[in-house]
Amino acid sequence: MRKSIVATITSALTAIGAASAAIPGLVPMPMEVTETQGSPFQIGASLAGASLEIGFAKNQPASQEAAKFLAECLTRSAGLKCGVREGEVKAGVSLVAGDAALGAEGYAITVNDQGVVIRAAAATGFFYGVQTLRQLMPPAATFGPAGTAKPDFRIPAVEIKDQPAYRWRGLMLDSCRHFFAKQEVEKILDLMASQKLNTFHWHLTDDQGWRIEIRQHPKLTEVGAWRPGIGFGMDPKETTHYRADGKYGGFYSQQDIKEIIAYAATRHITIVPEIELPGHAMAALVAYPQLNCNPEAMAKQTMPEGGTISRDVYCPGKEATFKFLEEVLGEVAALFPSKYIHIGGDECPKDNWKQCAACQKRIKDHGLKNEEELQSYVTKRIETFLNSKGKNLIGWDEILEGGLAPRAAVMSWRGTAGGIKAATEGHDVVMTPTSHCYIDYLQAKQGEPRGIGGFLPLQTVYSFDPATGIPEDKRQHLLGGQVNLWTEYVASDAHAEYMIAPRVSALAEVVWSPKARQDWGAFQARMQDQYLRYQAAGFNYRQPKDGDPK
Ligand code: ACM
Ligand code: ZN
Repeated sequence: MRKSIVATITSALTAIGAASAAIPGLVPMPMEVTETQGSPFQIGASLAGASLEIGFAKNQPASQEAAKFLAECLTRSAGLKCGVREGEVKAGVSLVAGDAALGAEGYAITVNDQGVVIRAAAATGFFYGVQTLRQLMPPAATFGPAGTAKPDFRIPAVEIKDQPAYRWRGLMLDSCRHFFAKQEVEKILDLMASQKLNTFHWHLTDDQGWRIEIRQHPKLTEVGAWRPGIGFGMDPKETTHYRADGKYGGFYSQQDIKEIIAYAATRHITIVPEIELPGHAMAALVAYPQLNCNPEAMAKQTMPEGGTISRDVYCPGKEATFKFLEEVLGEVAALFPSKYIHIGGDECPKDNWKQCAACQKRIKDHGLKNEEELQSYVTKRIETFLNSKGKNLIGWDEILEGGLAPRAAVMSWRGTAGGIKAATEGHDVVMTPTSHCYIDYLQAKQGEPRGIGGFLPLQTVYSFDPATGIPEDKRQHLLGGQVNLWTEYVASDAHAEYMIAPRVSALAEVVWSPKARQDWGAFQARMQDQYLRYQAAGFNYRQPKDGDPK
């Protein structure tokens, strides 16, 4: 018996291509990891019929879902039969009610030769404990497609205790400039969950595409979801998202959205939808030109493919604009459980407003000083509406100009000054400065696929500190940070994945791990195992190269 276990361990080691350290590289790095003296827990040959018992906590029904999630991964990838049942199990994985001090997202793991125990105080903590346990297993065992791993491996003896540094750990995807099908969005959500990111900011409307079905305004997707071609000078062959008539685009039906929200919820990810206003609204205005300051001219416009001529703005002089926006946002608020609704607010062109009699009347009637204050008027009105639906408004830092809406949260992208100012004034903020978080920027100075330009290597993302510049006594307003993938120059799924990984893992560590646990050299070493997980999951990524500039 003993002999056969030893033999199995030896063969498993060979099969895994084990790293020199007993504990695989964990990303993001947990708060505390202690390699213990005991023997590893052996899964597979030593268990009758290669099956695994997973027990969930009696007085923590929330742990059942995490148990099932683990079982599904192991059954799919390693063909391991799993029995999920209530109560602690011997020689298996037990999910056990943990101390309240672990918080909503924290967990503790103990692995020894008797099995695995995951403790947490809430559903999300159990889920994250399971994510870390997956990383303690060979990559193919839970990340691989069916049949790629043998149900025969060991989990190293270890004690882990873990809790996140920040509440908002995000990734933004622009589905407007280029469209990503439901399955691709779900693949990205899977990767996010494995890296303990909890907020998917979904950019759903922009000049070049409206991507969410709105029942009261069907032309938004009938017209606004389809443009003549792929646009931005991209190779038409990079995508298959064409309609029978050759138009490029696509949209998510409300049913699609519900399914994606449910998929994300199972992975403890909140989806924050972004409905851009008052600028970046060309697609909506081509569909409904009467909402523009110049309806006659707008009625002649067709859907833009990209470039500088393709930006336009709603007319806030007209009550019809607010009726429309409230109807749209009403449907959005009903669909998404997220507390936050993102209203964009960036890069709003105001020239139309200067020439528009209705806009100028609005300015005069409300005693506004200028067009910046007119944008602020729009944001405040929309905030009041969203609050009436039980939602909070979040917007890009331009919403600070002309006066911030009273309860608005700010997403700081043009550097950190906006976020610092907003936090200092008592507003919640998410930090996502171009300098560290714009993953549409290139990852190296040479040899990269076509892109928007810029330069954001992995190490720069890793050097991000969301708290920089925020006064100590205002830190409670710092929700966290996120990376943003704008997709003007990212048309294919494989390219989107390449831009996301590995930089998303650097961001994940910055917003999850304690500052004292962050170390660039150690991160690079641990990433060698993370690359194997990307590979197992079939997620394209950029493998850093020797001689990459810093
Ligand atoms: C932005 O990048 N325009 C928010
Ligand atoms: Zn106007």
